[in-house]
Amino acid sequence: MSSASTPGGSGPYAVQAPDPSAEQAHLALVAAVARRRNFAIISHPDAGKTTLTEKLLLYGGAIQQAGAVKAKGEQRKVTSDWMELEKQRGISITSTVLQFDYAGSTINLLDTPGHQDFSEDTYRTLAAADNAVMLEDAAKGLEPQTRKLFEVCRMRKIPIFTFINKMDRPGREPLELLDEIEQELGLACWPVNWPIGSGDRFRGVIDRRSREVILFQRAERGRQSEERILSVTEAASSELVEPELLATALEELELLDGAGADLDLELVHAGELSPVFFGSAMTNFGVRPFLDAFLELAQKPTARLSHDGVVDPLRPEFSGFVFKLQANMDPRHRDRVAFVRVCSGKFEKDMTVRHARSGRSIRLSRPQKLFGQEREVVEDAYPGDVIGLNNPGMFAIGDTLYTGTRVEFEGIPCFSPEIFAWLRNPNPSAFKSFRKGVNELREEGAVQVLYDTDASKRDPILAAVGQLQLEVVQYRLENEYGVKTRIEPMEFNVARWVCGGWPALEQVGRIFNCKTVRDPWDRPVLLFRNDWNLNQLSEDHPSLELSAVAPVVSGVEPIAL
Ligand code: G4P
Repeated sequence: MSSASTPGGSGPYAVQAPDPSAEQAHLALVAAVARRRNFAIISHPDAGKTTLTEKLLLYGGAIQQAGAVKAKGEQRKVTSDWMELEKQRGISITSTVLQFDYAGSTINLLDTPGHQDFSEDTYRTLAAADNAVMLEDAAKGLEPQTRKLFEVCRMRKIPIFTFINKMDRPGREPLELLDEIEQELGLACWPVNWPIGSGDRFRGVIDRRSREVILFQRAERGRQSEERILSVTEAASSELVEPELLATALEELELLDGAGADLDLELVHAGELSPVFFGSAMTNFGVRPFLDAFLELAQKPTARLSHDGVVDPLRPEFSGFVFKLQANMDPRHRDRVAFVRVCSGKFEKDMTVRHARSGRSIRLSRPQKLFGQEREVVEDAYPGDVIGLNNPGMFAIGDTLYTGTRVEFEGIPCFSPEIFAWLRNPNPSAFKSFRKGVNELREEGAVQVLYDTDASKRDPILAAVGQLQLEVVQYRLENEYGVKTRIEPMEFNVARWVCGGWPALEQVGRIFNCKTVRDPWDRPVLLFRNDWNLNQLSEDHPSLELSAVAPVVSGVEPIAL
C-alpha cells in the first residue's frame, strides 16, 4: 500500500511530524486540490451543451491534445464523433469525463448525456460533481429537463452557475429570465455580466465587477467572435454600441446593484445563489469570461460525507467511490469500466486498495484516464478527478475504495423512476441467461428492478427514469446475454418508497389506487398512476411517510432475481 501515514497535529491534516516525505506528499496534495475544479453541465436538449463543451475544451487546448481536431472546419463534426459512435451502438450511452488544463487549473468536466438519452446516469454523474453549470437557451428559459436536473443539484446542495446561451438570437428579457429562476427554482441570481441589447441588436456584455464592456462582434455563422474589451466611456463614444442600448444596460445594472445583494461566495457554495453569465456558445462569445469567473468562484473538490464522518480531500490516504459502471465501452473488448471519483489523497497506478463493501483488497494495475472515447493509463489522480477501472464484476454503483483507515461513503440514492414495465422472458429454457442479464444490468445501474409481492409472479418489473433505458436493457439482454425479451408497459408513472417499511404499511391497512411492489432490498414501494392518486393516499393516511428517492442501503446485498 503506498499511502502516506496520517500525520499528527492540530489542523485536520496539518503535517507536524518531522517526516519529509509525508510533508512533501501533503504539500503536493494541497496544491493539487487547490488547482482542481470539477463540474457537470445541466441543460435541456438543444440548449447548446455540446457547443459550449467544445468551446470550453478549446480553451484548454484539450481537443488538440487528444488529436481530435484536424482542421478548423471539421471541428464540430470530428469532436462529436465519439458521441455519434455511442449512439450508433445504441448501448453505451456514456457520461464521460473530459479533463483539461487552463490558466493554471485542472478542470474536470463530467459530461452527462443530453438529448433524449436522459437516464439515471445523468443523475449519478451529478453525485460526483462539485459544481454544476445550468445552461439555458435565452429564448426558452427554464425547460423540463433542466428543472429535473436542478432538483438533483438542490438535493446535494451543489453550487450552480447559470449560463444564458444564444444571446445572438432574439430571446426573452434578461430580467424576466432571472425572475423565472428565482421564482420557480427558488434560486437567487447574481449576474456576473449583463447583456447590452439582444437578438439582432446584441452588442455584448458589461462585466458587473470591472464595469468593462466586452463587445460582441457578429461573425459569419460558424465563425468565432473575436473578443474586444472597452471601458464604458470608450464604448459610449465608439459608435459600436447604440447609446440607448448601453444606457438601458447600465440602468438595469444599477437596478441590480441597488437590490443590494453581494456576490456572497458562501451562498454560492451552498447552492443558494447562482452567478449568472450571458453569452453565445456558438460564436464563442462570453465563454472565456465565464471560464475565468468560474475558476475564481467555483467550489474546489469538497469534503464528502461518509458513514464515519466527513472525509476531507486532504486526508492523506486515497479514497473514492464508484458513480457509474459502463459495459462494452470498447466494442473490440467486451469490458466493463467502473468510473471512480477520487475524494481524498493521491491515487497511484498499481495501488492496492480496499473495497469497502466486500472488505477485499484489490491491486489497481490498469487505471485509466478517460477523454471521451480515448483512454490512456493514468499514473496518478487527485481529489476531483475521475479514473476508469476495469471492472471484473466486482464493483457496484456507490461502492467505496480506500487505503488506510476504513471509509465508506454514503451511497448514491436511486432516483425516482417514472416508467415501469414488466420484463417477460418468453423462453423458459433461457431463464438462466435471463436471470444473469437482469442481475448484472441492475448491478450496473442500467435500470432499477422491482418485484411483485406475489411470489408466483416471478417476472421482474423494470423501473426507469427515461424510456431509452428500457430499450437499452432489452437490446443488451439480446446482444450480450442472448435472450430475447418482451416489454409490457405498466400504467404507472410515480413511485414512492414507504419510509417505515412493511410494518408502517401494515399499520395503515388496505390502500387503494396503487400497486405495492418490493425493491431488491425487500422494501415496499408504491406505484401510482399519477400524482393525483398519490396525493389522495397521502390525504387518507397522513401518517404514512413516503419518499420519492430510495433510501441508501449499505452493507446489505440486494436480492437477485
Ligand atoms: P445540446 O448539446 O444541448 O443538445 O445542443 P447543441 O450544442 O447541439 O446545440 C443545439 C443547436 O443550437 C445547434 O444548432 C447549435 O449550433 C445551436 N447553438 C448552440 N449555441 C448557440 C448560440 O450561442 N447561438 C445560436 N444561434 N445557436 C447556438 P443545430 O442547427 O442543431 O446544429 P448545427 O447545424 O449548428 O450543427
